[in-house]
Amino acid sequence: MADLSTKWTGLNLKSPVIVSSCGLTADQEKVALMEKAGAGAVVVKSFFEEQIRNEVEYLSASGSDHTEMDDYMHSYIRHNSIAQYCANITRLKSTLSIPVIASINCYTPGTWVEFAKEMQKAGADAIEVNLYEIPIDKNLSPEIIERRYLDVVREIVKSVTIPISVKIGQNFTSITNFINKLYSFGAKGVVIFNRFFTPDIDLDSLSLIPSSPLSHEYEYIHNLRWTAIISSSVSSIDIATTTGIHTPDAAIKTILAGAKAVEICSTIYKNGIDRITLINEELAKFMDERNFSTIEQMRGILNYSCIKDPAMYERVQFMKSFGGYKNV
Ligand SMILES: Cc1cc2nc3c(=O)[nH]c(=O)nc-3n(C[C@H](O)[C@H](O)[C@H](O)COP(=O)(O)O)c2cc1C
Repeated sequence: MADLSTKWTGLNLKSPVIVSSCGLTADQEKVALMEKAGAGAVVVKSFFEEQIRNEVEYLSASGSDHTEMDDYMHSYIRHNSIAQYCANITRLKSTLSIPVIASINCYTPGTWVEFAKEMQKAGADAIEVNLYEIPIDKNLSPEIIERRYLDVVREIVKSVTIPISVKIGQNFTSITNFINKLYSFGAKGVVIFNRFFTPDIDLDSLSLIPSSPLSHEYEYIHNLRWTAIISSSVSSIDIATTTGIHTPDAAIKTILAGAKAVEICSTIYKNGIDRITLINEELAKFMDERNFSTIEQMRGILNYSCIKDPAMYERVQFMKSFGGYKNV
């Protein structure tokens, strides 16, 4: 029988299927069912820098001019929010045997490192740093933004002993260069690529509305290329791939491209927690049929450096190969 265990950022997982950070992982009962269904680990709903900032700003705007009082409220909000988040981690750890990964969303260096220490103290097995800021200011160069991200990672890595992974979006000019820097700044893993909240436009009211938060099952295709390239060009960093992995086939392909784990969320919202069991069962069946006894034997055999024609991963323009595509 195939062995589904894998090592992700030094954690031993009994399955490569991780439930990614979302509302479902904030619920203790649901997380227990995820473990029962065969999840390798869970990433707890993120603790957001923006949320704390908003609460603090709201209080500053509505509050008195009393600086001492403001300072007290600021520190109370910070302390109280992190205490609640950490209490949830401790509760999860007391009932689960799979790793519990805390998640911090932040984009500026600061006291967030203190939060990382608290999360470790609360029992988190690892921390996923959910890193992204929309670069609206045209005067802010990529170097400055990337440097800020790297400083956040370096400071968190320095402040704790548990493994740090970084969850990023795809919008970097040189993604391999940035991920290589993440590794040199101490990140053990990278989660590619986060799927962010995206606004849409309502044509009736001519106003902005949120688009669907859930991914579609064909979206996994965008990340196969980068999983394959990064697992080859920054081979020391562990990769967990997220977005659009809804089916066992998508999970299998992603591991063949080089991921050590897959992080899933939308498919659980759409198909239920049993989807984890289905992915594990089909993955084991695939491995048995193809004579792979471990995940490591199949992982990356179709990555950029292992395939005969790596140009397939480099090709981005349609040119001649699609010249025969029928006109309508
Ligand atoms: C309702 C919802 C809440 C989410 N909350 C978070 C979050 O707090 N932190 C985070 O890093 N990602 C969050 N995500 C992103 C998911 O963890 C995941 O990376 C993304 O949805 C892509 O995976 P999927 O296609 O399997 O959904 C959220 C996604 C959804 C749908």
